[in-house]
Amino acid sequence: MTKLIIDTDPGVDDAMAIFYAAAAPDIELLGLTSIFGNVTVEMATRNALRLVEAAGLDIPVAAGAPTPLVLPPFTPSFHVHGDEGFGDIPAVTPKGKAIDESAADFLCRMAREHKGELVVCPIGPLTNIAHAIQQDPEFATNVKRIVLMGGSYREGGNITPHAEANIYHDPHAAEVVFASGARVEMVGLDVTHRILCTAEDFAEMAATAPKLGGMLQDMSHFYLEFYKTVGKFDGCSLHDPAAVIACTHPEWFTAENVAIQVSCEEETSGATIDATDERRPTAVYVAVEADKVKARFMEQIAKLA
Ligand code: BDR
Ligand code: CA
Repeated sequence: MTKLIIDTDPGVDDAMAIFYAAAAPDIELLGLTSIFGNVTVEMATRNALRLVEAAGLDIPVAAGAPTPLVLPPFTPSFHVHGDEGFGDIPAVTPKGKAIDESAADFLCRMAREHKGELVVCPIGPLTNIAHAIQQDPEFATNVKRIVLMGGSYREGGNITPHAEANIYHDPHAAEVVFASGARVEMVGLDVTHRILCTAEDFAEMAATAPKLGGMLQDMSHFYLEFYKTVGKFDGCSLHDPAAVIACTHPEWFTAENVAIQVSCEEETSGATIDATDERRPTAVYVAVEADKVKARFMEQIAKLA
């Protein structure tokens, strides 16, 4: 059983990843931490609580950082995930509240309490993880793995020609994470662009699991429309679910061990490139058995019926 915390900016594919984790029998989900990215951090916390309640989970949600480490605060663009984060479905005020502990404090405490066992899966910008690393010198060694959705090695970017969105929104934080000495696994666009979900797949989710699969289908229309504008994909990418699935099924991915650093230069900001110093190599995922990942995702969502 993998003890997991997901750090998230929900987000349509974040919702898919969290519902997957709720269903997967090999994941013990210990909590969620929220981060700005697809939406503001306040919206991310609200959306995370909504997902927890919809899935009937009894887990804490800790609110994360409102702004990047060094870059000025930015307003999310909303054109990928919609005005409230879940496509065009309206926002709902959740019943619950975030715990009275920051995301970074919660991450540090859980990493101490589950030393050597905790897997952290960030699926948004890496600001909370960088704060945890900077706050607690033992955090990087207390965690077992940091399996992040972000970056791109050979694929090029999705928000600029060089950068993937999660890294781009806080490149300084990402650099702290890649340089931390923690076991880092990068589930980037090289693999997530190969795992696609179509309108027919969302219809199947709604048919097999009407409440939660139906909620994903309702969210998906806006997201799929965005992907049509990109033009090169038949469907949307399973970015965030791929990272969660990699936490328990790394055997479906091929990794290369490469020391990675993050460009903080204006021209190439957020690019994940070969490091120029000595640092612990990152496991960079470069190929995937996409059919297996997709089938696993669909099977587990069906179990949410
Ligand atoms: C990442 O950016 C966000 O839009 C998605 O939720 C995913 O985490 C993909 O680049
Ligand atoms: Ca995300």
